[in-house]
Amino acid sequence: MNRKDIEDHHSPGSSPTLTFSCYTEGHGKDFFSPNLWPERPAGMRKAFEAYYRALGGIGDELMRIFALALGIDERFFDDKITRSISHIRFNKYMAQKEAPLPGQLRAGAHTDYGTLTILYGEDRPGGLQAFSPDGEWIDVRPPPGAFVVNIGDMMARWTNDRWVSTLHRVVNPPRSEHRAERLSIAFFHQPGHDVEIRCVETCHGPGNPVRYPPVTYGDYRFGKVVSSRIEEDEA
Ligand SMILES: [Fe+2]
Repeated sequence: MNRKDIEDHHSPGSSPTLTFSCYTEGHGKDFFSPNLWPERPAGMRKAFEAYYRALGGIGDELMRIFALALGIDERFFDDKITRSISHIRFNKYMAQKEAPLPGQLRAGAHTDYGTLTILYGEDRPGGLQAFSPDGEWIDVRPPPGAFVVNIGDMMARWTNDRWVSTLHRVVNPPRSEHRAERLSIAFFHQPGHDVEIRCVETCHGPGNPVRYPPVTYGDYRFGKVVSSRIEEDEA
């Protein structure tokens, strides 16, 4: 995603009450700033915190299913997501009274940084698209009440690209439906910032060398944010 995207969002994360140094020192200070809450609507914080806990639980359970699918211990990822820096983003895609600039989208093509993303989004004009293995953008139109789950960059690193992160974007509505607004809520499930991401033992071997050096998640994420901003400035 880049700063040219046509979206408005609020992006709170967890509210740790623990005093572990990983929350307060080094990168911890970057990832655990206090959340800011609007005064309206009333009850937003309470609803968010319940939703955050519920989605975090689903994400953690999916990681255990992922571990089984990869042929490793079911609990392999547990200690890597215990002090997760997961956060939620509430996205509002505004009506487009004025036509977007050439190449400008609601959200430009990107992959998500973390382990997996659980998305709840309205099926309205100007929605989500995913890039298929056949090289085509396809509309993602979940039925009401369904979640969309994206694989994030860390699963690609852990699996040596056996699973690749999902390239996706949010397109503009057709001009005939430019009044269409859209809401979505994305839960970005992520490891702890100090967790080292290293290829799992079942995803490399003779003829399949390790493609990526070990990296801590915080360093990876910081590097990706910086490089995306440099690319924009050079565009
Ligand atoms: Fe995304």
